[in-house]
Amino acid sequence: MSRKPLIAGNWKMNCDAASAVTLARDVLQRTSRLRNVDIAVMPPFPLIPAVLRVLDGSPIGVGGQDVSAELAGAYTGETSASMLTSLGCGYVLAGHSERREYHLESDELVRRKVGRALDAGLIPIACVGEKLAERDAGETFSRIERQVTVGLGGLTPAEMARVVIAYEPVWAIGTGRTASPAQAEEVHEYIRNLLTTMYGSEIASATRILYGGSVKPGNARELMSQKDVDGALVGGASLSGEDFAAIAESAG
Ligand code: 13P
Repeated sequence: MSRKPLIAGNWKMNCDAASAVTLARDVLQRTSRLRNVDIAVMPPFPLIPAVLRVLDGSPIGVGGQDVSAELAGAYTGETSASMLTSLGCGYVLAGHSERREYHLESDELVRRKVGRALDAGLIPIACVGEKLAERDAGETFSRIERQVTVGLGGLTPAEMARVVIAYEPVWAIGTGRTASPAQAEEVHEYIRNLLTTMYGSEIASATRILYGGSVKPGNARELMSQKDVDGALVGGASLSGEDFAAIAESAG
């Protein structure tokens, strides 16, 4: 099963209205000749309309960094899935480790967010990953198992077919300390085997599993060449059009 790689840029809480437009233009220009890779950017919520204006009509997808688990109503500060769809977003992150860490998001909450995203027609990129202490304690696989079975449990096969997973070891995020290609592949293969148990081999083999955590132009090619690594969720390096495009090139 050949899976088209996806390179997604998580801009986190960076940029302002002007620099977001500049960055979006730069990404558009530098990636325009790439055909064999899907590309998406996740700007902060208030900057999404400006970025969409730049990327309108282009193949570059735009997404939110988070989504509410609620449909609508008195939830101050939240952003609903249908708001993102109505703007023209195609993707949304769910359960990023920074949301889990700073906003205490549980696997159960992530599952509800994934459901809202799917119901609104978005492609959820569900993030999983162990902390350093969990890895050191030999708990990597049990942590990932819970995140995947709870966070992505009970979907219909048609729903699961639209989900993207991002494996982001927490100890590799923003630290410059990336997982080795073998460390990444080991967990990606584990996730795919879990999906086979949950949803069958056809869906498991079609699901894109991205790697995230200090992906840079210098390490992207080797990571992307692993059998079960189908792209990248890029943080810091996605703030440079040049670096982000170089990473996309190494996948496509
Ligand atoms: P860095 O690429 O900055 O390590 O961030 C990874 C990440 O969290 C992407 O969502």
